[in-house]
Amino acid sequence: MRTYAEYLRIVEDALSGQLASLGEIPALLYEAMNYSLSAGGKRLRPVLLLAACETLGGDVSEALPFACALEMIHTYSLIHDDLPAMDNDDLRRGRPTSHKVYGEGMAILAGDGLLSAAAELMLRAAVAMGDLRGVRAAEAIMRRAGVTGMVAGQVMDVTGEGSEPTPDKVDYIHRHKTADLLTAPIEAGFLLAGADEGQVALGCEYGLRLGLAFQMVDDLLDVEGETALLGKTTGKDAAVGKLTWVAVHGIDKTRTDAAEQVRLAIAALKNLPGETNFLKTLAQSTLDRVQ
Ligand code: IPE
Ligand code: IPE
Ligand code: MG
Ligand code: MG
Ligand code: MG
Repeated sequence: MRTYAEYLRIVEDALSGQLASLGEIPALLYEAMNYSLSAGGKRLRPVLLLAACETLGGDVSEALPFACALEMIHTYSLIHDDLPAMDNDDLRRGRPTSHKVYGEGMAILAGDGLLSAAAELMLRAAVAMGDLRGVRAAEAIMRRAGVTGMVAGQVMDVTGEGSEPTPDKVDYIHRHKTADLLTAPIEAGFLLAGADEGQVALGCEYGLRLGLAFQMVDDLLDVEGETALLGKTTGKDAAVGKLTWVAVHGIDKTRTDAAEQVRLAIAALKNLPGETNFLKTLAQSTLDRVQ
């Protein structure tokens, strides 16, 4: 298996080329899309997709367009999440947010552009593959990003702001706004590797647990993290009455719940073939991340 740094390099080297490969994008649109896409970030989702695919014996170069597409979708979700009408944030990935630099209209369009570019890239790759693996992977990614997935979670997040925090509401928000987009790379990576249904189900269980832990830690970092490391403003969730795990369960229980979800994520790996150490270590590292 490769290291996180090796997968990261593969993703970084491919991202803007994949975007440019779509043809003549209007200069300002390309600039705005690339501003957010090239700002770094952990690249967790595309790295996971490549690693998941390779864990089950798949081909990294075949998976790369899907990994880049997923990072484009994630980046669009951040641009829109930061808009004044949503979380109203000024800082993202250590830079002023898209709407601060390009204005709200262009920020909305940069998000629209990244989402459509992602679909186009995946479908183009699927056609070139010539069998159904690429189509299935694209379907999984769009479904997890879409109206029963990330977008559904964001709806509950935005409409629930200021309402009474309940365990059910925050569980729904975490499952969809975050865990779906962290399950997408495992599901798609496994499908590209030709995994069977049982293996895909175990992969999705891992992704769900990892995703829940990831958002619990995000909620903790909003309270306890450092803006300089996170590259985004802290202390905002409580100030605007966000439905977070911390708001419902408190800091200590959030920490133990996250550890329990990581334990469950790792347990789901047990019956999978291949070298699953990368996925195990990655899940563990979620608990003490600082960015
Ligand atoms: C931020 O995701 C949004 C959440 C789901 C918490 P990341 O923490 O993966 O952000 P980047 O991609 O590293 O900037
Ligand atoms: C965002 O959740 C999840 C997305 C779908 C973008 P948050 O609103 O908590 O993410 P941050 O804290 O702004 O990164
Ligand atoms: Mg949000
Ligand atoms: Mg936000
Ligand atoms: Mg947050």
